[in-house]
Amino acid sequence: PEFDLAIRGGTIVTAADTMKADIGIRDGRIATLSASVTGAAREIDATGLLVLPGGIDSHVHISQYQGPDISMADDFASATAAAAAGGNTCVMPFALQQRGTSLRRCVEEYRALAEGRCIIDTAFHLIISDPTPEVLGQELPALVKDGYTSFKVFMTYDDLVLNDRQLLEVFEVARREQALVMVHCEGYDAIRYMTERLERSGQTRPFFHAASRPQVVEREAAHRAISHAELVDVPIVIVHVSGREAMEQVRWAQQRGMKIYAETCPQYITLTAEDLDGLNMEGAKYVCSPPPRDADSQAAIWEGLTQGVFQTFSSDHCPFRYDAVDGKLNPKARTSFRWVPNGIPGVETRLPILFSEGVSKGRISLQTFVALTATNHARLYGLYPQKGSIGVGFDADITLWDPAKRETIRQEILHHGADYTPWEGFAVTGWPVMTLSRGVVVAEDGKVTGTAGHGQILSRDISDFARPRGL
Ligand code: URP
Ligand code: ZN
Ligand code: ZN
Ligand code: ZN
Repeated sequence: PEFDLAIRGGTIVTAADTMKADIGIRDGRIATLSASVTGAAREIDATGLLVLPGGIDSHVHISQYQGPDISMADDFASATAAAAAGGNTCVMPFALQQRGTSLRRCVEEYRALAEGRCIIDTAFHLIISDPTPEVLGQELPALVKDGYTSFKVFMTYDDLVLNDRQLLEVFEVARREQALVMVHCEGYDAIRYMTERLERSGQTRPFFHAASRPQVVEREAAHRAISHAELVDVPIVIVHVSGREAMEQVRWAQQRGMKIYAETCPQYITLTAEDLDGLNMEGAKYVCSPPPRDADSQAAIWEGLTQGVFQTFSSDHCPFRYDAVDGKLNPKARTSFRWVPNGIPGVETRLPILFSEGVSKGRISLQTFVALTATNHARLYGLYPQKGSIGVGFDADITLWDPAKRETIRQEILHHGADYTPWEGFAVTGWPVMTLSRGVVVAEDGKVTGTAGHGQILSRDISDFARPRGL
């Protein structure tokens, strides 16, 4: 047969177009698009379905080291299984440098955790926590050349925070190597000050996590990161923008012609700080940083999504169990918000939430949905034109989507390693029915059919988006 597989009768959606066409797949790639593809070894009937580029989630945390007292709820097998079931064909987790350790060695350790376990393709960003002269001068440039073309830096967290001088030094290396820096924008000293003040007055419930890092803390850090990027003349990505104030900083910079890109996440269009105010410690299920804000911020995030302020919509999947197993929970984690691990699961629910809240409710077009969930991730992080669209030559990473299917998000239908979902009971319209990774069906009707090890660890190209203004 001329093709290994044909997907027939569906409506193909890309970031540019919607069209009725069949797809012919050969050797894991899209070999043809045409009105009618016949003569394939196998056919999939996509009548009545949307045929989307598989979701790319460029911000997930998998098996990331959290210190001696706690571990993340997903390994690479469960995280990529959950991702596939949720309509994704590629995830981008982080290889975290621990202070005092060689960055290269950390990268090899994370690769070893992922090797042979992934169901869909995976590509690592780096996290730089210790920008020594050796790291800046030798290790980072070599790693960029090896295809680790983006790295994240943090403006808060004891074990990760970089000071302004260190941020500037990392930015300078990124400019020289044309790598893309993702910045976690929250001010370290302000958070410590607020946390200690709240604890002194006995305000330790998870609800006060949000009060310990209000929007002004994120806005100040976003402005500082943008200013440093201007000084160095380097493009950066402001990740997980939570609300109006940080969004306005990004928009301001963009309107001044700066290459400031931005990401937001499902939690910031669907949750608010009130969700952290659950009974007993239940609010811990919603503790993430930055925290969800309020209705006005949700409206601002929609403005940013429709006006092009945001390029990517990622999950920031960072799963922890609520009920500990094997004592793997810091015993203090239920004494104060300060000790609750930051992060929520979401890799499996990102696409249904944006589709339902965005497309089904008429806020965004199908093209914007595809751009925000797949195409822009590939373009921004150097996976384009291998991934991120449906066209001849692209990997056959395809999600068949039922735009009319109603579903209620519940823990019992999910595949992640967490023991809860923050969206329990959340009703959506639109759901993935089949996910293909390089032409192989890896999830179908809520069942994961892919095998561990099918997913490859990808190296990435330099991104056009990382080119400084002055070059
Ligand atoms: O609370 C969060 N978002 N945890 C994940 C780590 C990060 O900062 O992205
Ligand atoms: Zn972050
Ligand atoms: Zn994150
Ligand atoms: Zn395979």
